[in-house]
Amino acid sequence: MKVVTCVAPVNIAVIKYWGKRDEELILPLNDSISATLSTDHMHAKTTVMASETFTEDKIWLNGKEESIENPRLQNCLKDLREKAKREGDAVTANLKVHICSVNNFPTAAGLASSAAGYACLVYTLAKVFGVEGDVSSVARRGSGSACRSVFGGFVRWHQGELLSGEDSLATQIVPANHWPQMRILILVVSDARKTTSSTSGMQRSVETSELLTHRIKNCVPKRVEAMKKAIEERDFETFAEITMKDSNQFHAVCLDTYPPAVYLNDVSHAIIRLVHQYNAACGQIKVAYTFDAGPNACLYLLEQDVPTVAALVRLVFPPNPEQQQDFFRGIPVIPSVILPPINEPPQVGKIRYVIHTKVGEGPSQVDDHLLSEDGQPK
Ligand code: DP6
Repeated sequence: MKVVTCVAPVNIAVIKYWGKRDEELILPLNDSISATLSTDHMHAKTTVMASETFTEDKIWLNGKEESIENPRLQNCLKDLREKAKREGDAVTANLKVHICSVNNFPTAAGLASSAAGYACLVYTLAKVFGVEGDVSSVARRGSGSACRSVFGGFVRWHQGELLSGEDSLATQIVPANHWPQMRILILVVSDARKTTSSTSGMQRSVETSELLTHRIKNCVPKRVEAMKKAIEERDFETFAEITMKDSNQFHAVCLDTYPPAVYLNDVSHAIIRLVHQYNAACGQIKVAYTFDAGPNACLYLLEQDVPTVAALVRLVFPPNPEQQQDFFRGIPVIPSVILPPINEPPQVGKIRYVIHTKVGEGPSQVDDHLLSEDGQPK
C-alpha cells in the first residue's frame, strides 16, 4: 500500500488562456501567464492511495463520491500510468487507486478550482507512481489552466506546436521570492456556480468570435513578451496595465461570442470603476484588476498599498452586519483611515468577503491524509 497527500494552489492568469486548437488534448490557441497563489489561504488537497486490496479506481470530491469515468480524469490517470511504466514505479502504477480531494474555497465560481484540483491530483499521483520530471502536460489534460498550478511564482504556459501536445507545457518565469512585495486581494462577489463553463464558453468563442482571432494573432504574442519583461524587472505599472487590458479584452471576446458569454456583473463593473478612480487619484497605477469566467475580482497590488485599497473596498462595499467579523481573510489587513476621495455609491453586502494572499511556491506534500487505512474518506 502506498499513500501520499499534497496541496496545490490556485493560479490567476494575467494573460488569459481562452480558446483551444485541440479539445481532446486541451491544446490552447495562445500562450498564457499567471501568478500562482500561496497554498496557505486557498488550495486543493488530495490524497491518493494505491493498494493491492482495491478492486477499482474511486474518487471522492468535497465529501461526495463522483464517477471515475469522467474523461478528463481518465486521461490524467492513463497518461500518468503510462509515464510510470516507462520511467517510474510500474508495479504501483498497475494497482487501483482511491482518490479523495477537497477545496477550501468555493468550487466553480470563477475561482480556478479546477486548476488547483487537477494540479493536485496529477502532482499527488505522480508521487505515488514515482514519476519525476514535468507533469504540467499531464495536468493540462485535466483542465488547461491546471498546468500552470504545477509551479510556484509566475508561470508561462507555452502553447506548443506539436500535434501530440508534448510541447504544450508550463515553465516557471520567476520563483515566488522574486517579487516578494506582490499581493493579491480576491473579492468574492458571489459563490454562485457560473452559468457558462470556461470549457463551453471558449469553445463558442472559437466558433464565433472574430475578435478572438484578432486577439490571438495580433495582441497576445506582444503582450506575453511585455508581461514577461515586466515581471522580470518588477515593473508594477507595466504589469498592472497589461493585466487590466488583457482581462478587458478577454471579456470583450466573451461579449463578441454568439450567443454572448457574460461573466461580469454590476458589482464587477463597480470594482473596475473603483480601481481606475483610485489609480487616477494616485497619479500612477497602484492596483490592477483581473476577472476569470465569473464575477469575482482578483486585484494585484503591492504590499504597501494593501491597507488603503482594502479600506476603499470596505467603504464602497460595506459588509452586511453578520459578515463584518471575517470580511478580510488570509493575511491580516489593517485598513487605512485616511482615504482619497472616490465617487462611487456604497453597495452593502455585494462583496461577501476578501481573501488577502500572495504569490506562492506551488504544490507540496503534507502529512495529514484524507483517507483512512482502509481507503475510505475519514
Ligand atoms: C478564464 O482551464 O478552466 O480562467 O481547459 O476547458 O478546463 P478548460 O478551461 P479552464 O479555462 C480557464 C480560463 C480562464 C483564463 C485562464 O485561467 O487563463
